Amino acid sequence: MDKPQRSTNVTYHSSAVTREERLAATGHLGMTVWLTGLSGSGKSTIAVELEHLLTTAKIPAYMLDGDNLRHGINGDLGFDATSRTENVRRAGEVALLFADAGMVAIVPLISPYSADRDRVRARHAEMGLRFVEVFIDAPIEVCEERDPKGLYKKARAGEITGFTGIDDPYEAPETPELVIDATSSPPETAERIKQLIT
Ligand code: ADX
Repeated sequence: MDKPQRSTNVTYHSSAVTREERLAATGHLGMTVWLTGLSGSGKSTIAVELEHLLTTAKIPAYMLDGDNLRHGINGDLGFDATSRTENVRRAGEVALLFADAGMVAIVPLISPYSADRDRVRARHAEMGLRFVEVFIDAPIEVCEERDPKGLYKKARAGEITGFTGIDDPYEAPETPELVIDATSSPPETAERIKQLIT
């Protein structure tokens, strides 16, 4: 489902900077690492580790966390399917800009629908940028047991409706570049992702 294009009479201005010139300037080709999984699966913790690991290795990286984006650019969006689709689209477009600028965009977002994630992947392919999808495969029982924000408890009590994994769907990726199980530690996972992308 594409957004209706309401911006009309606009012209795309291509940059005069080639990707090679950007690579020469920053030393890195930008890309996106997309972390998908249930709430409480550990996506954000892994993203924080990875961002730090890459930055200290002098690889420019920036985390675009779902919860954080919902404090700003995505603050007007709810959690119905249409809003989640738009949430993923916007996060994907922002990641694309960071990647185009030569950074590793790290995006921990539930992003429950495969089609939405696939659209972000396709946009990266269109722009000639690498997209790596990492599935944080923590089962709902583990996430609910952890319940770091107390949201599963609220969802079970009916205080939150449409909660992913409880009464809202999560479509696991079928062919992600990497699958991480719930037993892996965040530093270990960050190291594995770093190996995969460098
Ligand atoms: S997404 O589904 O649209 O990709 P996103 O990753 O941005 O979600 O935000 C998820 C975060 O919002 C969760 O970590 C949780 O803190 C919070 N949240 C609030 N309501 C819900 C809900 N109904 N389902 C899932 N997460 C929710």
